[in-house]
Amino acid sequence: MKRKWWQDAIIYQIYLRSFKDSNNDGIGDFNGLTSKLEYLKDLGIDAVWVSPHYDSPMDDNGYDIRDYYKVSEDYGTIEDVKNFIKKSHSMDIKVIFDLVLNHTSDEHEWFKAAKDPNHRDHKKYHDYYIWQPPKYDAEGKRMMPTNWRSWFGGPVWEYNEATNEYYLHIFSKKMPDLNWRNEEMKNDLKAITQWWIDLGVDGFRVDASNHLEKNWEFPDAHPGYEHFSSLPKHHEYLEEFGKEIFGPNDIMAMGEAGGATKEEAVKYCGYENDEFDMLIHFGHVWADCDDNNHLTPGKWAKGSIDLPHIKGSFYRWHSMLQGLGWNLIYWHNHDHPRVISHYGNDQEFHDLSGKMLCYTLHLMPGTPICYQGEEIGMTNVDYDNLSDFRDVEVYTEYDNFISFGATHEIAMQALRDRSRDNARSPYQWDDSEYAGFSDKSPWMNVIRNKDRINLENQVKNKHSIYSVYKDVFHLRKEFNVANGIMTFIDIENPDSYIYLNELELVDLLVVANFTGKKITIELDLDLQKFSFFRSNYERRDAESKMVLRPYETIVYKKEK
Ligand code: NOJ
Ligand code: CA
Repeated sequence: MKRKWWQDAIIYQIYLRSFKDSNNDGIGDFNGLTSKLEYLKDLGIDAVWVSPHYDSPMDDNGYDIRDYYKVSEDYGTIEDVKNFIKKSHSMDIKVIFDLVLNHTSDEHEWFKAAKDPNHRDHKKYHDYYIWQPPKYDAEGKRMMPTNWRSWFGGPVWEYNEATNEYYLHIFSKKMPDLNWRNEEMKNDLKAITQWWIDLGVDGFRVDASNHLEKNWEFPDAHPGYEHFSSLPKHHEYLEEFGKEIFGPNDIMAMGEAGGATKEEAVKYCGYENDEFDMLIHFGHVWADCDDNNHLTPGKWAKGSIDLPHIKGSFYRWHSMLQGLGWNLIYWHNHDHPRVISHYGNDQEFHDLSGKMLCYTLHLMPGTPICYQGEEIGMTNVDYDNLSDFRDVEVYTEYDNFISFGATHEIAMQALRDRSRDNARSPYQWDDSEYAGFSDKSPWMNVIRNKDRINLENQVKNKHSIYSVYKDVFHLRKEFNVANGIMTFIDIENPDSYIYLNELELVDLLVVANFTGKKITIELDLDLQKFSFFRSNYERRDAESKMVLRPYETIVYKKEK
């Protein structure tokens, strides 16, 4: 297969709302992003993935689209988008937009027609969504069609009086799910996608891609995720889309999907398959949940880190796709806590653990995504009040925690540890009042640590986390790191993160202590040939037995 641009690319994920505000309304926008392209280029970025920018009532920050052909006024105009694409391309930066195909906003024209029997287009659009009649209990009381639970914590059904039906929404109730069994609906989505391709977009990240098909038998099940996730038929839809739209236009597509078998992984992103080019998978993301916490259960329960699980997931994807498809690596996105607070240490060992996280992830093979602010070690939020949070998910889940018996303080701590808002606070460009993000109070508060953790400081410091990211991104290119064959050493070890990445010209051995305590490791390799290359402490030769200090990470290099 001819090598594609995205196999050698470093992708940077932009959460538009929080990256850079150009007109001081407190909201990040396209012109703000465009003004920072030089920064991204200098960091070594080849492509940017921009979170949804379409017209939206912003119930879920733009994942609820009201008009796919319009740019949200919050983010600018279509001219601003064109200008952004043009400038990116002139700097050899590819543009990846977010494509939301699983649902629309309830304010989308299709849904307005679908829910209103008197609307002139009701007949056509009703079937664009998923409707079920109510059930009734013994007393004749109206009940939901199933007891399935939405990803945001409440039921998946919302009643529509005008038709005496419920519509399905696996996310918020302002995000009705589309019916992928409807051909006209699919054609409309294809036309939308083609329209953005014609504007010059190079790729898409396809939102919620494994949820497109539902179990239309609608059996009861709680939470019932298996009835709207990864059902076999969603592969048919994706293949159709890929064959008709992505492939012929030479568009890079990356989907997102939870756990997958090897067979499925190859369907998603095998070289010979048409669905996607790469897949955002989640095996490594929630490797620290405490199953015994019943007050803030599930992803909200912070427990101890299961490092073998994290390494195991990265290794599994690397080997499943070896020779068959292309892998993608990343620490986290806009739906997860900040990696330094989650898997590193955002206090005493902020600097050391930030560098450790860079070396351990970004020297692995595959195409990496760096989430905005990761390169300066931005942390989780420090909000004191519930009203400081913005995410639609937070509010349903907060009520759930209280109903499970959590105190306000326990619930708040769960939000500070695990909510999606952690990744969404404004980018910390400098130590000015609003961190250089805006001159006006932003839509979401800046974190207090901006005085210490900000880009301006880190650019000045040759030994900052930022400097390590820049250096590592450079190394990725120099040594073709993406192409390597990776093996972990002592993968079951709960504290160490050690792997060998075998490349064309050199082998890289990354030896890391993933913890804040001293650990002893053993290296059963011919170490003679490995010379010191990089470290977050000082220079140190490799030995068969080594005591590593907190988060100590050393990279060794073997010339071939
Ligand atoms: C996944 C996106 O990453 C998330 O932010 C969003 O809420 C859901 N899909 C629904 O679109
Ligand atoms: Ca703005």
